[in-house]
Amino acid sequence: MIVAIDGPAGSGKSTIAREIARKLGFQQLDTGAMYRAVTYSALDRSVDLDDEEAVVDVAQAIHITFASHAGESTRIMVDGHDVSAQIRTPEVDACVSKVSAYPGVREAMVVLQRKCADAQDIVAEGRDIGTVVFPHAEVKIFLTADPHERARRRVAQRHAGEHVDEATLEREVKQTLSALEERDRLDASRAVAPLTAAPDAQHIDSTRFTIDEVVDQVAAAVNARRA
Ligand code: DC
Repeated sequence: MIVAIDGPAGSGKSTIAREIARKLGFQQLDTGAMYRAVTYSALDRSVDLDDEEAVVDVAQAIHITFASHAGESTRIMVDGHDVSAQIRTPEVDACVSKVSAYPGVREAMVVLQRKCADAQDIVAEGRDIGTVVFPHAEVKIFLTADPHERARRRVAQRHAGEHVDEATLEREVKQTLSALEERDRLDASRAVAPLTAAPDAQHIDSTRFTIDEVVDQVAAAVNARRA
């Protein structure tokens, strides 16, 4: 079975996908992490990101794998090196929409994404999962949340366990909000596989739901398909 979860940046896709994978015993596939890995690798090799051919070469040359160990979060590896932390920097955030808009980059990633679903039940999250990668997915979810709430969650996640004063938080939420909105604008307006809901996707607005409540709604959709 394939569960597709699409939606804008910070809508909670990764959290929900991880919980669904754990609850139902599915493999989680974070496709955003793959585009981030290509972006990080291109930056790391000092490739000019305006040079489409050179960026596509990177996407085709690198070997992306996921490693998961019981009780730990899934790690993403490029050519055997763990880059899970390196793909989450503001620099990668700022460049990933440009890199992921190149058709050649997308082609290389989609081949890998489809391979992942060959032998196992998966819950895949991204922007074009229900529309392009797995148009026949049994369950399609389009997850959204109020932009301010998405920015607030991102900042809270970044400072988990730390004490940060209100003014700093407020400033970071503002910066994060404009970066998220810019990324959504680019992702939704690109020519190939833009961020959009599949016509048959179930829409969930997570603004006023807890994680558990959203997980329950997705699990109910999966169980309804299994019955
Ligand atoms: O989900 P994320 O924020 O980690 O994704 C990072 C970027 O990757 C996102 O801004 C656009 C791109 N992406 C994409 O183009 N297609 C996907 N299926 C997933 C992500």
